[in-house]
Amino acid sequence: MTASIEVHLTPDYLSESLRRDVKEGLTSTPKSLPPKWFYDADGSVLFERITTLPEYYPFRAEREILAARSAEIAATTKAHTLIELGSGSSEKTRLLLDALRDAGTLHDLVPLDVSETALREAADTLAADYPALRVHGVVADFTAHMDQIEGEAPRLVAFLGGTIGNLLPDERARFLSEVGAVLGEGEWLLLGADLVKSPDVLLRAYDDAAGVTAEFNRNVLRVLNRELGADFLVSEFEHVAVWDPEREWIEMRLRAREQMSVTVPALGLDVRFDKGEEMRTEISAKFRREVIERELTAAGFEQTSRWTDAEGRFSLVLARAE
Ligand code: SAH
Ligand code: TRP
Repeated sequence: MTASIEVHLTPDYLSESLRRDVKEGLTSTPKSLPPKWFYDADGSVLFERITTLPEYYPFRAEREILAARSAEIAATTKAHTLIELGSGSSEKTRLLLDALRDAGTLHDLVPLDVSETALREAADTLAADYPALRVHGVVADFTAHMDQIEGEAPRLVAFLGGTIGNLLPDERARFLSEVGAVLGEGEWLLLGADLVKSPDVLLRAYDDAAGVTAEFNRNVLRVLNRELGADFLVSEFEHVAVWDPEREWIEMRLRAREQMSVTVPALGLDVRFDKGEEMRTEISAKFRREVIERELTAAGFEQTSRWTDAEGRFSLVLARAE
């Protein structure tokens, strides 16, 4: 069967929310940009390259856990529908799909992502490789369209890759309680979260030697140039990754090499950057066991199982909606 695709992010919605986000971010002090705009077609390809970098351990650590635990997850959840939020290429998800197929319960797969190109490609490939499944891709924003996650119960919502850490604490609380509200009692959330560890290891994962993460970070400026007619000199911005020990998150920034003035015609905006000024583009929060459990409980979940990779770098939690 071929995949069906549903697009909630219409061009109007996208351009309006991009304008709103960019106007707010570029006129704030310090300046910032929200991360979902990284993932145009080029951004999604760059992210796939990040997952293959030797320094970027989260991908391999989470895959190791899924390889070891998918059969157990399938047996516990007996999911009929698997909904994956921020699915990207859904590569690791195949481990879950294989286990759920072997368990014989799964009928429907619903990958959801803001990146239409990444989603279409993944949905088509998955539909071809899992012919017994109905694959229904949804192009949507998981911070705004949670009510779109339909399907036959029991549903299993997978939120992998440590993407939970890319939300600010208040966004994260809202996100988790929305997922909790959508799921009925006895349905499931599978949450992958990166753990607090040595800042050296963390900084290398977000500032790799080959410079792929730097390109990924700068790509957001290309998106603004293309979509809003902005004139960012992309090479004049340097990628910076900083560990914030208080808030326990990695902060990705773009630092202006020189003093600059940038025009954003679609917003009627002229923005000045001082030499050395840093603009925040992304956070990647790292977690402690107690924090994940507390936040899941607050959102109406009960933590059923918690696993880490052998080196204890990354955690995967299975939680049941109450
Ligand atoms: N789950 C994959 C990809 C993680 S990267 C993995 O574990 O490797 C984060 C993914 O979330 C990207 O595919 C990006 O396009 C998507 N994304 C980011 N913000 C989003 C949002 N607000 N709504 C939906 N998808 C989002
Ligand atoms: N969810 C990924 C993470 O936090 C996203 C990511 C990886 C990322 N590398 C990045 C986001 C670099 C921005 C910049 O690990």
